[in-house]
Amino acid sequence: MSALINLEGRVAVVTGASRGIGESIARAFAGAGARLVLAARKPEALADVAASIEAAGGQALAVPAHTGREEEVRSLIRAAVERFGKVDVLVNNAATNPHFGPLLDVEEQAWEKTFEVNLKGYFLCAREVIRHLQGRGAPGAIVNLASVAGIRAAPMQGVYGMTKAAVISMTQTLAYEVGGTGIRVNAVAPGLVETRFSAAIVGSEELRNLVVSRTPLGRHAMPSEIAGAALYLASDAASFVNGHVLVVDGGFTVH
Ligand SMILES: NC(=O)c1ccc[n+]([C@@H]2O[C@H](COP(=O)([O-])OP(=O)(O)OC[C@H]3O[C@@H](n4cnc5c(N)ncnc54)[C@H](OP(=O)(O)O)[C@@H]3O)[C@@H](O)[C@H]2O)c1
Repeated sequence: MSALINLEGRVAVVTGASRGIGESIARAFAGAGARLVLAARKPEALADVAASIEAAGGQALAVPAHTGREEEVRSLIRAAVERFGKVDVLVNNAATNPHFGPLLDVEEQAWEKTFEVNLKGYFLCAREVIRHLQGRGAPGAIVNLASVAGIRAAPMQGVYGMTKAAVISMTQTLAYEVGGTGIRVNAVAPGLVETRFSAAIVGSEELRNLVVSRTPLGRHAMPSEIAGAALYLASDAASFVNGHVLVVDGGFTVH
């Protein structure tokens, strides 16, 4: 592994780490030497991921938390500091998409839920970690999982796409406002990745082909193909990268 792309001595909080892209990022970070704090709502799957990271020689603490709730976010960061003494890196990854259909059909509850988790949750976690980093005068890195749905039209996923566009805005504003204290804030914008989240698209031949036929690489991604981008942005290899949106989409957005 490159000397630059490692996280030795770093403590990283990864939200939505019990499956999919978040799990892949957590495993990649552990492989790069980070100590991990894993968050998601349901404790069982989260504990399994933590146990398997520890079985492979890493260190991982599982903390069940709903990232849309401020008190739970505070407890999450407090638990991380109690166990490992500090937090250096945050990966905002936990997201949801309860409404799959035309934008005009969205119900208020689905709208609220999407914004609560995908946007307010990212903000609450970022604010808590930035306060912690600034409190100890330390540099740090925040990586926000956005999406190509926040860069292009997001048919059938309109509210989700709006939250991802807002995540990009938040990434740029935070990069501007906290860069002076050595905290870098960047985003990864994946294209279609095979996870439970995307099952409605990947599992439908018609919808999958719609995306894949527009993707120059001619396929969708696996979660491990997103982890490298997050690892790069969290590491010192990206020490002068701030406010950037790293698109990882097989070329979906080049045309
Ligand atoms: N898959 C794709 O095609 C794709 C494409 C572009 C971007 N992304 C982005 O990549 C990220 C990960 O997506 P994924 O596909 O890996 O999703 P996933 O497989 O559904 O995993 C979502 C994770 O988030 C957790 N989570 C959901 N709501 C939460 C909440 N309120 N509080 C805390 N944790 C919560 C889930 O665990 P619990 O249910 O136990 O809470 C789970 O660990 C998301 O930000 C997504 O928008 C995905």
